[in-house]
Amino acid sequence: MSSRLGHLWKHGAAFLGSPYAIMGGAMTWVSEAGLVSAISNAGGFGVIACGAMPPAVLEKEIRITRVKTAKPFGVNLIIMHPELNALIDVCIAEKISHIVLAGGLPKAVTISKIKNAGIKVLCFAPAYAIGKKLVKMGADALVIEGMEAGGHIGPVSTSVLAQEILPEMAKEFPEIPVFVAGGIGRGEAMVAYLEMGAAGVQLGTRFVCAHESIAHPNFKRAFMKAAARDAVPSVQIDPEFSVIPVRALANKATDEFIGVQRQAIEDYRAGKLDKKSAQLKIEHFWAGALRRAVVDGDVEKGSLMAGQSVGMVKAEQSVAAIIAELIAQAEAYLVG
Ligand SMILES: Cc1cc2nc3c(=O)[nH]c(=O)nc-3n(C[C@H](O)[C@H](O)[C@H](O)COP(=O)(O)O)c2cc1C
Repeated sequence: MSSRLGHLWKHGAAFLGSPYAIMGGAMTWVSEAGLVSAISNAGGFGVIACGAMPPAVLEKEIRITRVKTAKPFGVNLIIMHPELNALIDVCIAEKISHIVLAGGLPKAVTISKIKNAGIKVLCFAPAYAIGKKLVKMGADALVIEGMEAGGHIGPVSTSVLAQEILPEMAKEFPEIPVFVAGGIGRGEAMVAYLEMGAAGVQLGTRFVCAHESIAHPNFKRAFMKAAARDAVPSVQIDPEFSVIPVRALANKATDEFIGVQRQAIEDYRAGKLDKKSAQLKIEHFWAGALRRAVVDGDVEKGSLMAGQSVGMVKAEQSVAAIIAELIAQAEAYLVG
């Protein structure tokens, strides 16, 4: 690695404790011990996706990961998880070094509980004002994730978030590392964000088709066939009935979802359903859908969560090869 690249992400790499400031974005059902340890072993920073795991399952996953790597890795917790406190207790008992809090704005008590145990906390900042608030609440680092990303997304692109947040953070909180996520598929883009002031990057989609990823072969095939334009956000057909924005590859379920929304809304208007039940019908449509796609390989009825960088996923590669490719592209860009 050149000294220029090493210098650009020095702060991020020191914060993570890994040679490269490349975080493997936690992906529910995908980011388990195998992929997480492979990312950390290749010089990046793997993050276990806790998703809906109960505490005992998380404990087991952490222990398996430890067997597979001696390098640092983190745990991603969704703040709406009903057993969030117990999950944090597991991370404390297992001496996890970094926790990423996802799924919304965490409570100050949650951040303090983690920090008091000596664990570093990373939080998602969808705007500078929120980032500032999170830092004041004790967040040790921020992740800014644009709408190009796979999975649950906000409304703003990575490039705009980076311009809005990185310069302000550099001015007000230069000691807080900021990691940029969403739509990064190549090393040149990594460098661009590092040069804008990011401490590091987080990639998810690029790692789905790694040899070490347990994603079903059908899921991987769908990724390798897809172009950027196939990874689309979920569509909401009525302003009164909210739909959680998720970016995924369009499939049969995407079309069916429109029909389910239409039917639920019609039933509500006809007085056959109350508003809450209609909304629940819409929300329940995707329940278990990511598992169906990733684990069972049902690429028609499952949710194929993917970012726009899916167009740059062309083949199955080892994690080490993916990371080496990103570094080589970054180095060539810096030299040129
Ligand atoms: C299949 C899939 C599942 C994901 N699950 C989670 C999750 O459980 N928690 C989370 O914070 N982010 C989740 N993400 C987002 C990733 O952690 C990462 O931030 C995102 O993939 C980065 O953008 P990219 O896909 O453009 O690389 C998921 C993304 C994908 C593609």
